[in-house]
Amino acid sequence: MTTMDSLIALVNRIQRACTVLGDHASDTFPTLWEALPSVAVVGGQSSGKSSVLESIVGRDFLPRGSGIVTRRPLVLQLYKTEEGIQEHAEFLHLPKKRFTDFSLVRKEIEDETDRVTGKSNKISPVPIHLSIYSPHVVNLTLIDLPGLTKVAVEGQPESIVQEIEGMVLSYIEKPNCIILAITPANQDVATSDAIKVARQVDPSGERTFGVLTKLDLMDKGTNALDVIEGRSYRLRNPWVGIVNRSQADINRKVDMISARQREREFFASSPDYAHIANRMGAEYLAKLLSKHLESAIRARIPRIASLINRTIDDLEAEMAHLGRPVAIDAGAQLYTILELCRDFDRVFKEHLDGGRPGGNQ
Ligand code: GDP
Ligand code: NA
Ligand code: MG
Repeated sequence: MTTMDSLIALVNRIQRACTVLGDHASDTFPTLWEALPSVAVVGGQSSGKSSVLESIVGRDFLPRGSGIVTRRPLVLQLYKTEEGIQEHAEFLHLPKKRFTDFSLVRKEIEDETDRVTGKSNKISPVPIHLSIYSPHVVNLTLIDLPGLTKVAVEGQPESIVQEIEGMVLSYIEKPNCIILAITPANQDVATSDAIKVARQVDPSGERTFGVLTKLDLMDKGTNALDVIEGRSYRLRNPWVGIVNRSQADINRKVDMISARQREREFFASSPDYAHIANRMGAEYLAKLLSKHLESAIRARIPRIASLINRTIDDLEAEMAHLGRPVAIDAGAQLYTILELCRDFDRVFKEHLDGGRPGGNQ
């Protein structure tokens, strides 16, 4: 591992430790919290947000469907583990439970949504935190969000339209948030809710990725090349076309491996897209994101280093003040974060020294 790789890995571990601490972390060191990167999906209802996230992870575990399915934000942290370690998931609200059956993860997301909102069309801004540990993922924090709507439906207050938009904005307005603007190819891109809301918070498009779903549902004889090749709506980052599972596929329980295989075949065999097939699909999107995140962290390392330096001071003060920790778990977790921050600080200083002839004089 290079020094930069160790620094990035440490940032990931600090982020995980902060998540475990939840609100306490954002209260204790808001600046550090905000510096750590994440990826959020935004778009209209049923545009394919949850499907895209699942596809990036390469696992079936999210509730999906034609209705208002995602009703609370889901903060999903992916951790790449060593080969040979069994893939598993953990919820922050169920710290002692390890999920190895991903259909039970989906069930728990549904149940935990209902626990807060009731079995209804209501939404809640209270996030569900889920971590997935797997040798087959890239280190990423992904956020699944309720879909933007234009009108309230049965059981929803009129204010729901603004409520959802406000909730989405509260995540994507953070400068550390990379936005996946999910836009269905069978609708007009010019009216894409995703692009509209992304533009509000990221006018230069620096941290927005356009994701065009449902390419398989376009009218025969039409294609999305004008969008994908940046002629109809230019974004700074490239558009990525996606083919997720259809509702019929979901009903027939088509698995992820066959879905990916079919997506690859769709692009490779399409007269319209074969020439760009290597830049299409969910696996390519995952790689693109991971590369983007890495360079985002790389560019921010000096700033993160100074924030971490300050955090060390804050944490030391907090630890001294705690004396006898009220909540043992929180105390232990703060200590873990402090240790990780010290590691980061040490590796970063070595990195600076190593980069200069004559070392640290
Ligand atoms: P969300 O509401 O934005 O999270 O969207 P979901 O991921 O729940 O998907 C909504 C519906 O659209 C589901 O029935 C999916 O099967 C379907 N869907 C999503 N993406 C695609 C796609 O690329 N092609 C097809 N044919 N259906 C899709
Ligand atoms: Na949906
Ligand atoms: Mg959804």
